[in-house]
Amino acid sequence: MTTDELQALANEDDDPATAARGRWDTEYLGRCYRSVVETAMLRAGRGTRTVLKTDLWNEALGGARDIAGHFHETHGHRFFGLDLARRVCAEARSRVPTVRVVQADIRALPFRPQSFDVVLDLSTLDHLPEAGVVQALGEYARVLRDGGVLLVVFWQRSLLVRQRLLMKRLLGLREKSNQSYFARADVRAGLGKTLTVLDEFVAGTLFVPPYRLMGVLLDRLPARALSALLRGVAAVERWDAARPLLKHVAGLYGFAALRSQRVAPRPPSVTPCRSAVRAAP
Ligand SMILES: C[S@@+](CC[C@H](N)C(=O)[O-])C[C@H]1O[C@@H](n2cnc3c(N)ncnc32)[C@H](O)[C@@H]1O
Repeated sequence: MTTDELQALANEDDDPATAARGRWDTEYLGRCYRSVVETAMLRAGRGTRTVLKTDLWNEALGGARDIAGHFHETHGHRFFGLDLARRVCAEARSRVPTVRVVQADIRALPFRPQSFDVVLDLSTLDHLPEAGVVQALGEYARVLRDGGVLLVVFWQRSLLVRQRLLMKRLLGLREKSNQSYFARADVRAGLGKTLTVLDEFVAGTLFVPPYRLMGVLLDRLPARALSALLRGVAAVERWDAARPLLKHVAGLYGFAALRSQRVAPRPPSVTPCRSAVRAAP
């Protein structure tokens, strides 16, 4: 991601529609992520876990979107976090001092094999071109301990997403250059033999709302009403009976997978930035 792209994403307040989008994403994405991470943590078992969180965008933004700080505070988990962008690393480091930050690429993790109980990828993978997916998932398998859990959430090529992409093309609008959309089956296949799927789920459906309308709603709705609304949405999204339909329309889809076998260790190929740390196995 270039500095300009980062700047554009960070300055969401300039335009009312993008400002509304930023607020909506914070409220809604924050909840989606926290809810799926809770489930993954339960899968990983009780106790303090050593967790790797890939990309630190949400930690850099802080507030309701921060995962590492939140789960450290509420569950005591030890967090390592990484991001490709130096600026995102710096921002996350200053906002969430409890996370140990490494500047690195998910395709070449600078950690020893079997370092983590949990790896959380909340929409980092889908910033890679398709060719990088197997590589990144292989790295997650390598750094997870036997019995460790991977949570991977990604933007899928759902019906709504395809429709949106088509509309944008017809209107001559540019799609974000750093965003990929994957088929569920391809990500599942990329998990390979080392990672066994425990669960798959709809992580978020409401990503293409009319943002100006959402902005008005967010401005007018009392916090409690907004909370109730989002809880209702989450309940529908996690409802088993709705899954067969929602999985075709949901933007965000996820897998929780168990690392079930040993894999041959591969030496790290990225030199961590100055403040980088390595998780001790
Ligand atoms: C636009 S942000 C959004 C992701 C965020 N998880 C979310 O869903 O809101 C993408 C983040 O992923 C980071 N990123 C992109 N490619 C990466 C890679 N190959 N390895 C590590 N981080 C990467 C970027 O620097 C940026 O901080």
